[in-house]
This record gives sequence, C-alpha cells and structure tokens, in this order.
Amino acid sequence: MHDFDPGYGREPYAALVRSYPGSETYPTTDFRTEWGPIFHRGRLDGTAKVLVIGQDPAAHEAIARRILVGTAGRRFQGFLAKLGITTSYVMVNTYLYSVYGQQGGNAHAHDTAIAAYRNAWLDALVTDNPIEAVIALGSLADTAFRTWRTTPTGTGYHGAYQHLLHPTYPDSAASTGADPVQAMAKLLADWNAGLDALHGAVAAPDQQVPLAHYGNALTAADLGTIPEADLPPGLPAWMRSDEAWANRQGSTPADKRATILVQIPADQRPF
Ligand code: URA
Repeated sequence: MHDFDPGYGREPYAALVRSYPGSETYPTTDFRTEWGPIFHRGRLDGTAKVLVIGQDPAAHEAIARRILVGTAGRRFQGFLAKLGITTSYVMVNTYLYSVYGQQGGNAHAHDTAIAAYRNAWLDALVTDNPIEAVIALGSLADTAFRTWRTTPTGTGYHGAYQHLLHPTYPDSAASTGADPVQAMAKLLADWNAGLDALHGAVAAPDQQVPLAHYGNALTAADLGTIPEADLPPGLPAWMRSDEAWANRQGSTPADKRATILVQIPADQRPF
C-alpha cells in the first residue's frame, strides 16, 4: 500500500489554487515563474496542529510539486520529529515561486499583492486547522508572519510562535565566507532554543518524545524522512531519499534558468 497527498480538491484550498497569482504579481525578473507555483506540503484535511512558513521553493520542489522536500525540508522534518510532530503539520512558503537573483527575496518582503494571496492561505489554514504553533524559517518568513499578524484573522491567532534560522542558513553563510562548522553550530543552537520554547506547546503531539537537543553538528539521525503521504501519488521513493537528485544546470544564465537535471542517486537505482 502506498500513501499519497490527495492534493487540492477540498475547499478552501481548491479555490486558492484556482486563483493563484502569476507574473503580474511575481515579476519574472525576481521569481522563476516559469516553473509554476508550488503551494504547500502536509495536511490539508483539517488535522494540522503546527503551521510552518518557509521561504521559497528550490529545484527539488519544482519537480516534486511540494515544498521543503530537499535539504532544507529534511533538516526541518527532523526538528518537527523532535517535537513529536510526525503528521500533524502543514507548510507554506513566503513565496509561491523560487526567488531569482540575490535581491529578489528582500525586494518583495513587504509586497502587498504577494502578501494578499499568502494571507489568504494563512487565513484558510488557521481557520480550517487547530493550529497551536506557527514556526517561521528565516527572516522573510518572520516578516510574512508579522504581516499576517496585523490582519483580522492574524490578530485572532493566540497560539505559540517561533522564528528559527532557516535550515540552509549554514550553507548560505558558508557561501559568503563564514566558517561552515561554526555556521552549523549557530543554526543548531538557535534550533535548540526553539525546541525549548516549543516542546510541549502542542498539547497532544503525534508522539510523546522527551526533549532532545542537537549537538554542535548535524548528524544523519537528525535528518527526517519526507513521508510518502506528503507527495503526489506515484512519486518514486528516491525523490524522498537523503541525496540530492535535482540540480539547475546550463552554460548560460538563461539555460541554467531553463534546466533542472533530475538524476536518480546511484545507490537508489534498481539496475
Ligand atoms: N524549499 C522550500 O520550499 N522552502 C524553503 O524555505 C527552502 C527550500
């Protein structure tokens, strides 16, 4: 038997998906609108207790059509497991489309048209689900939450809220010259503070797990597996594996923007 995500047939999500914004709202200079919007991951059946706000989809998400399934997703799935949350979550991103270029994300942090559609999703999610905790991954997600908080539905939200460093903070910090070991230790210290704040914030988690902090380095055991139930039907198991399987490729910026190489990891091949 195989589990799968049944998709967006239920209201209010069907209407939201039908009315998604395109390049009139998300300019193609700043967003990879050509890969289509990627809406969510997790429960849309009224059972989510934790709402996660990520940043923007990347290459793996463009193929799997669900958010936070690559490195960031597996790291954060491990964080949720440490809260005992294995199924009762739903995730949306700050942006429906992958950010293109260095400044695209920051430039649209306070974009009202982008916020209007995102707020409609947040309204739907907190109205349809018994959300007890909201977690924002990174500062753009924090801004998204705070923007929503000023809306009528946002003002009425009284559950827990935690802003965490983004799961790929160490990778971005290292790419701009930071020491990767120290950057990872900083992420994990931040997430340990998040565990202290959130452990017990959900009254009846999926599993009762004792509070267990991260060490200074991320171990294989700290990564979560993306559940089959989170992906569209029939996606092969290697799309949930611990290895990268999607990469942007191309010898010119235009080709790289237009191309994602999908490759089955060597140890996942049945041939
Ligand atoms: N992928 C996503 O969908 N969101 C993030 O924040 C990071 C990677």
